[in-house]
Amino acid sequence: MSGDQNNVFTKMDGTFDGNDRFQAEGGDYHNPEEFKKLINARRSVRRYTDEVIPDHIVNDCLDMALLAPNSSNLQPWEFYRIKNKDVKAKIVHACFSQSAAKTSSELIVCVARRDTWRAHSKQMLEEFAKLPVETPAVAKTYYGKLVPFVYTVGPLSVLTPFKWLFNTIVGLFKVVPRDPISAGGMNTWAVKSTALACENLMLAFRAYGYDTCPMEGFDSWKVKSAMNLTGNCEIVMIISAGRRADGGVYGPRIRFSREQFVKTI
Ligand SMILES: Cc1cc2nc3c(=O)[nH]c(=O)nc-3n(C[C@H](O)[C@H](O)[C@H](O)COP(=O)(O)O)c2cc1C
Repeated sequence: MSGDQNNVFTKMDGTFDGNDRFQAEGGDYHNPEEFKKLINARRSVRRYTDEVIPDHIVNDCLDMALLAPNSSNLQPWEFYRIKNKDVKAKIVHACFSQSAAKTSSELIVCVARRDTWRAHSKQMLEEFAKLPVETPAVAKTYYGKLVPFVYTVGPLSVLTPFKWLFNTIVGLFKVVPRDPISAGGMNTWAVKSTALACENLMLAFRAYGYDTCPMEGFDSWKVKSAMNLTGNCEIVMIISAGRRADGGVYGPRIRFSREQFVKTI
């Protein structure tokens, strides 16, 4: 549906949701050298100074995170800025007291939700209805019918065997969406998009001269309990941020060769 949707968007001047934090178009950007500098400048930083990142910068970085591409534009993420000192202390402890968490000015818990897609489908249709043009029929079908068909897995993934059977049989004759068919699949679905937003967030902080460290070294039960986080969700990573301290980067950047990972078929 992206073709039709783009036609609608390109007619619009300004914003999609009436919120001017999110500009619609940026089509004339061409600056690979600056982008490469930014990518090269991002390192995982494990020790920060005491400097506090101003609120407006943190918010701007979070806005840039929210502009990440995401599956069906259903935005299956949540970002929790941990400002409460007691909660932060508990989360730092649950992060094995890593210095990347302990010394940070900001601690942001990045959560993928597999339980918001239905509400967000409705919200997408509400946003379409606000546009100065008629909601494209394809969008109504997509969010009203196709999304529920593909993403409903039922309680305890009860529909998984039926979806698998359906895909296997129909897939003999047609191209079918094989995934997600289970709660685990929905988890992967939500994590993919959230991880992209996490990368945006880290690059945004770097663009402002601050640094970050993505962390999965934590006890997820303890973090969830400290935050009272409930529902069908997964903490994708916790991102700490702050001003890099001397010696905050622990070693040289190591990457294996392009040939090892990039295959041409
Ligand atoms: C999902 C994920 C989890 C990570 N968890 C931790 C962590 O718990 N603690 C830590 O110090 N670094 C963590 N890192 C940072 C990696 O160690 C780091 O990205 C890698 O060594 C490459 O270094 P660079 O980010 O400086 O290029 C994590 C990175 C990712 C993407």
